[in-house]
Parts: sequence; C-alpha cells; structure tokens
Amino acid sequence: MPAQDLDQIVNLCKRRGFVYPSGEIYGGFRSSYDYGPLGSLMLRNVKDAWVRTIVQQRDDVVLIDTAILGAPQVFEASGHLSSFSDPLVDCTVCKRRFRQDQLDERDCPQEKKGCDFTEARAFNLMFKTHAGPIEGEGATVYMRPETAQGMFVNFTNVLQTSRKRPPFGIAQVGKSFRNEITPGNFIFRTREFEQMELEFFVPPNESARWYEYWCKARKQWYIDYGIPAEMLRIREHAKAELSHYSAGTSDIEFKFPWGWGELEGIAQRTDYDLKQHAEHSRQKFEYFDQATNERYVPYVVEPAAGANRTMAAFLLAAYDEDVVNDEPRTVLRLHPRLAPFQVAVLPLSKKESLTPLAKKIYATLAARYMCDFDETQAIGRRYRRQDEIGTPFCVTVDFDSLEDDSVTIRERDTTAQSRVKIDALLTEISQRLGDSCT
Ligand code: GAP
Repeated sequence: MPAQDLDQIVNLCKRRGFVYPSGEIYGGFRSSYDYGPLGSLMLRNVKDAWVRTIVQQRDDVVLIDTAILGAPQVFEASGHLSSFSDPLVDCTVCKRRFRQDQLDERDCPQEKKGCDFTEARAFNLMFKTHAGPIEGEGATVYMRPETAQGMFVNFTNVLQTSRKRPPFGIAQVGKSFRNEITPGNFIFRTREFEQMELEFFVPPNESARWYEYWCKARKQWYIDYGIPAEMLRIREHAKAELSHYSAGTSDIEFKFPWGWGELEGIAQRTDYDLKQHAEHSRQKFEYFDQATNERYVPYVVEPAAGANRTMAAFLLAAYDEDVVNDEPRTVLRLHPRLAPFQVAVLPLSKKESLTPLAKKIYATLAARYMCDFDETQAIGRRYRRQDEIGTPFCVTVDFDSLEDDSVTIRERDTTAQSRVKIDALLTEISQRLGDSCT
C-alpha cells in the first residue's frame, strides 16, 4: 500500500540518503533540500525517463539547455515582471504571511482562531540579483521562474538549425526559482526546483487537438512509470485560476497524503509568448509553410512538469510495507528505471577470497547498470536495505560461487532467489529488467 503519511517518505529519505534538509548543521534553510547519493541518482533517473519519452522516442522534439540568469527584457516581454505574483495577506495575530488563495477560511493556520487579515496585495515571485561588480539598474538580472522562456527566445535559432517544422517541440530540463510565500510539504513546493518542460509549437487550428493529446499522453507517462491510475486525475483550471499567458490549462494531479496536488500543468499558451517576444525584440517569430504558402505565428501547447514533485510522487506510490519470513519489511517498489540502483552486488562474507570475484562481477554489471556494492552487515540486513531503497535485484556471491561459477539472484518484489551461472548473469539480469531498463 502506498505511503499514507508524508513522514514515512521524509524519514526514509533522510535515513537512506535520498534527501537532506539543506544546511542542516546550521539548523536548516527553510524549503531547501540537498539530494544525497541515492536521491541524486533517482532525481536524475526521473529526468532521464522524461527525456527518453519526450525527446528520444519521438522524432519531433529537440532538447535544449538555456541560461538560468535572464535579462529583464525577457521577463518584461513574457509578462513575469508585471503579472507573476501571488495574492499575499498578513495575519495580524501571528504576524505571518500567507497566500490568500491557500487559506480555506478566515482562520489563521498558525493560531487556529479567527483573525483579521490585511487586504491582499500582489507579491512578485521573481528572484532578482545583479550581474557584474556594480549594483544598479543596468546590472539587474532575474533567475528564471520557468525554463519555458529560454525555449521561446530561441524559437528562431532552433527552427533554423534543427530542420523541424510545426508541429514540433522544444524540450528543456533545468532549475527554476520562485520566491514562494508558503513553501512546504517536503520537496513539493520549494524556492529552487527543477522543471521538465516541453513547448510544442503547432499550427493554430491544431492547438485544441494537441492539448487533448498531451493531457492523455502525459497522464499515461506517470502510469507507465508505476503510479496507480487511481492516484492520478486531470483537473481543468477555472478561468480565474489561469496564468497570465494561458487560454486553458489542465493539471495532472497526484493524490498526496494531504490531498490532491499538481504534478504537471498542460497549458494552451496560444501565440502569447512568441508574439510578446516578437514585439519586444522587434524580430519576427513566424513560420512560413512552403506547402500552403502560409505564414503564421505557431500556437504553443505546454506540458510543464516538476522533477522534484514527481520524484516525491513516485516515492510515495512505490512505498510499501509487507512481511517476509515473519519479519516486517519496508520496500520501495520503484520502476527499475527510476530506482537509484538496478542491481546490488553482495559478497556473502567480507573474507578476502570472495572480494576479487565479487568486484569482477560488479565491474561487468556496472558497465551497463547503476550498481551498488555492499559487504557490510549480515546478508539479511543488506537485503532489507536494498528493498528499502528500491533495488530490483541483488546478486549474492558466496563460497560456492568459487566452486560452481554461479551466484544467487534475489528479486526485490517477491524475494524469490535463483542460482545463475556467472557467465550468463548479465544476460539474465538484462532479460529480467527487459524493456524497462535497456
Ligand atoms: N512554464 C509553465 C510553468 O512553469 P507551472 O505550473 O507554474 O507552469 C510547472 O510549473 C510545474 O513545475 C508544476 O506543475 C510543478 O510540478 C513544478 N513547480 C512549480 N512551482 C514549484 C515549486 N515551487 N516547487 C516545486 N515544484 C514546482
């Protein structure tokens, strides 16, 4: 059964080295997290899985990687400087600030008693800094609040160099920054986070069709990577909720322990961004279709996901507790492609005689898969650790291995064990991982 309580995942992440509060030795830095040895592998796997589906397995999407620091002109044109804000209210009782749209009633969440809030005012979420040695107007730069603008401002560059034509997409994975008023729920809402965004440029009259297509395709991606369908839903935004650039947005939501929360937004950005940048830069952002002799500004359908939130959702959905040999165990039933390690090599004993063979096996497997090597503790405890971090297979090297050239493969989900010849091990593991991990 998936985790019912966020603390189950928060504790596991800390205990096993997935995610640590940032600057913990100084008391932590609210809403920032560091990804440890396992978390950094898993976060990378989440992003790689997205790139695999969105870029590698399609012939109509290219990947780019653009600057985090942006000139004010970019965000003036995009509307972020004037419109990217949340309504903020102050509580006169506890002196704290809240997002007005997140207050259920007129009850202060801190004091649990009615109080008067100040009138709402717009709070811009952009992080501002300066470039170069002199502070001042001319040196102001902004940290991007979405990766999207890097794709819009490079539309012509990509169009000219990639030989794509609408419908086609530009994809990007990278950090974004927002001065959130109420960060929280672990890695769900932080001020620094990673996005996986696709700007899909289409002829204007195909926009509605592609919007539907991407809503379906993106929901299916989460299911393919292990989230049960009943833990996902698509919710269409009400008009009042729409971002300044959107003519229609649907969120893919996940059932978090505290309720439904957004994993990804799919927005119809129309020709808003390209037209804004065309106007502000005085350049043309158009596509000329030689087949029809038509010149048009493409419309954009944008599936925009968050890598950190998605990782949290995969962890929550994969979490399970069961009983093996009368002992309770915690197991992360992660999709093999998302698990930090696909295989762990475990020499039964630390005795010198087993180490060279175990290291040789490790080297063979590590050439293809991310592997762990662990020779500490009793074997049962090592299996438990690998279960808890989601490793699909353990390979145990024992003293018989020296005689019969065989090792034991143990499966995470069933705990079933079988003996396999070392020569056939890589093929066997590859077959068992199958398409899920090649
Ligand atoms: N370019 C469109 C855009 O940025 P968004 O809905 O504001 O749309 C897309 O962001 C995704 O980025 C969200 O669905 C969420 O997964 C992630 N995201 C946004 N703000 C976040 C935050 N403060 N912390 C973590 N993830 C965040």
